[in-house]
Amino acid sequence: MKSVVYYFTGTGNSLAAARDIAGGMQCELRSIPAELKKSKIEPDAEKLVLVFPVYAWGPPVIIRRFIRKFSTLQGCQIYPVFTYGGSPGGTVDILDKEVAEKGGKIVSSYGLKMPGNCITLYGAPDNEKLNALFDEYISRINNIAKDIATGAEGFRSANGKIFNALLSGLVYKGFLKGLPNMDKKFYSDEKCNSCHICEKVCPVGNIEMKDGKPVWKGSCEQCMACIQWCPVESIQHGKKTVGRKRYHHPDIKVTDMFEQAGGK
Ligand SMILES: Cc1cc2nc3c(=O)[nH]c(=O)nc-3n(C[C@H](O)[C@H](O)[C@H](O)COP(=O)(O)O)c2cc1C
Repeated sequence: MKSVVYYFTGTGNSLAAARDIAGGMQCELRSIPAELKKSKIEPDAEKLVLVFPVYAWGPPVIIRRFIRKFSTLQGCQIYPVFTYGGSPGGTVDILDKEVAEKGGKIVSSYGLKMPGNCITLYGAPDNEKLNALFDEYISRINNIAKDIATGAEGFRSANGKIFNALLSGLVYKGFLKGLPNMDKKFYSDEKCNSCHICEKVCPVGNIEMKDGKPVWKGSCEQCMACIQWCPVESIQHGKKTVGRKRYHHPDIKVTDMFEQAGGK
């Protein structure tokens, strides 16, 4: 059975996991933002692993767009692997519907606790916490790859369906409603040296340089790539992010982010 691992990431946690899983399963790794540039997506594998972060107790909107763009998922086995900072809520339950509408089936899902990257709410964890999270990650990732490779059926999400529906219903719906306006608070301060990195790491092409400064165009996924990867910490979101510690996964390079976006 052919397998493909698809990923979406803002700060590298999900790409690090996707790479390890694709390595363990010896299969191809593909960027979701790059795939979405195609006019149509046809499934060319029976087993699809989707690796992505949790946003507001649900899946990023781009993941839902990606699933909807498949011509069909009939006969496909889907394995969502989500990375999260605190609690994944009903992420899988939300995806269930999207996958079923395309005729696919979620066989099993896996949550991986990773450093939280939502800098609009908090700064990066300290090194001791980071190391503890990465140690826990290392102890689990090979088994996840093995389980998916062998088709182990089972684990879906940590909480009950009703609890998840309540949790995600409120928070996720609010997140979706606010999404079109969320990038209005991004700006670059006087440290900006017009390096264009924010423009190139943005997975959805939502940043354009005008007069040497980034401008956000209103189609943000809230992945935080621009603010977290800015090499001079010039980008802020309102006032709260000023002075907050930045984060991106230590094994992921900025050029990996360019590649995800479909550039070089
Ligand atoms: C906008 C936003 C919302 C988030 N919401 C949640 C959440 O509801 N629950 C959670 O556990 N982590 C949440 N996180 C943290 C990320 O899911 C987590 O850090 C993830 O590993 C980031 O993956 P990435 O490095 O691949 O982008 C959120 C992050 C962002 C940017």
